[in-house]
Amino acid sequence: MNFEKELLKIDIKLLPKVSKISIDGRNYYLKKNIDKKLLRKKLLFFIQKVVSKILFFRILSPTVNIKNNSNHEAIKLVNLKKYDLNVPEVFFSCSNFFILEDCGERLKDFLKKPEIYNKIDYLKKAISSIANLHNLGFAHGGSQIRNFTIDNDNIFMIDFEEIIPEEYISDIQIRDVLIFLISLSNLEIEDEDYHALLKEYDKVSNNRFIYKKILNIVSRVKFLTKFYKTGFSKYLGKDIHDFIKLIYILNYN
Ligand SMILES: Nc1ncnc2c1ncn2[C@@H]1O[C@H](COP(=O)(O)OP(=O)(O)O)[C@@H](O)[C@H]1O
Ligand SMILES: [Mg+2]
Repeated sequence: MNFEKELLKIDIKLLPKVSKISIDGRNYYLKKNIDKKLLRKKLLFFIQKVVSKILFFRILSPTVNIKNNSNHEAIKLVNLKKYDLNVPEVFFSCSNFFILEDCGERLKDFLKKPEIYNKIDYLKKAISSIANLHNLGFAHGGSQIRNFTIDNDNIFMIDFEEIIPEEYISDIQIRDVLIFLISLSNLEIEDEDYHALLKEYDKVSNNRFIYKKILNIVSRVKFLTKFYKTGFSKYLGKDIHDFIKLIYILNYN
């Protein structure tokens, strides 16, 4: 397929940052390389700026930045694919945008379907893929459930925008696991499922102490759970509320 020729027919300037496009009857995703500062995620912002300052957590310290119009995400995906990780294939890339394999629907939407009764099995697969990524010495940087898709029962990780400096990888790996768990807040899973997911991660991971490390982290900030018990955390914004809720669940259940 001559993507360059086909892409001339599309006015890329008019497209949003990420769009599903069809070329020759096949679906792809086109993603533009845009300055991350404009799109900084609320959760990341919260974790980096507030918690790291107040609690002096190394794992939460700011690490990521992005150069304008760099095609580092496409380069990273090509590299990850070489290791047989379940990430989208890159079909075309240039300084402004890249074209990806369509990896199906968002896992989050899929899990919300009433006929899906074994959510935990899919979530275990998702956290295992984070562990597999970590085993190869990588970290994700934005491992929320919204950055997973599912196609024919295969789970994919997407959105590798973050540039993670080598010295922060092991800290960001822990943060990946935390962010993933925090992001499950709306899925209405059981409290014990959070423990089951951490155990699953440890089973797949080369680094078998993440569960312990995370329990240690949440026990250090146990005092925050009083905001959850009194209902006050609801007024602190959704990200903070979800984080405190996770601290509560992991400490008391
Ligand atoms: N390769 C892909 N396959 C399927 N869906 C995708 C793919 N890439 C992006 N998407 C969809 O587009 C959304 C946004 O893409 P993403 O790479 O996460 O960018 P960002 O979150 O930075 O806007 C995703 O949540 C997903 O729904
Ligand atoms: Mg995303």
